[in-house]
Amino acid sequence: MNHMMLDALNQQINEEMYSAYLYLSMVAYFHSMKMPGAAHWMVAQYKEELIHAEKIIAYIMDRGAIFKLREIKEPTNHWSSPIDAFKAAYAHEQHITGCINNLYDIAMREKDYPTVQFLQWFINEQVEEEANSSQIVDDFERIGHDARGLFMLDRELASRPMPVPAPTSKE
Ligand code: FEO
Repeated sequence: MNHMMLDALNQQINEEMYSAYLYLSMVAYFHSMKMPGAAHWMVAQYKEELIHAEKIIAYIMDRGAIFKLREIKEPTNHWSSPIDAFKAAYAHEQHITGCINNLYDIAMREKDYPTVQFLQWFINEQVEEEANSSQIVDDFERIGHDARGLFMLDRELASRPMPVPAPTSKE
């Protein structure tokens, strides 16, 4: 793997770790808002982001290269409302999609076909990531300020299953 590709993948590890931090920060926010279902949803999302980072780490090692960790910036811990937090999650996932697309462009330009193949999983995953948060924003909008509706939505968010543990290599 050439230096440019490795550098870009190292940066994506950082993006995924920051994503994990951001969602963990949202766990604190939803806990403070007394929305245990949304907090649970964010715990699952936090774990999913760790899996994304670990997937890239395992891939770099499979290619015989050495991954390098970078400083993770501090996420905000305040949003103006629950829907605002999910809107921020959706906007963040759109940003991550842009990062993945950029990685794909680099892999194509560098003719790094194994990485092109590897990134396919992330391209598909981002469709799901954006759809998940965007759907919840829609749900919040539909409910508005209806207390019973918010209670029911929080209950539904509590049913999100936890992601399966990260693969260690070649998966
Ligand atoms: Fe790792 Fe939510 O994208």
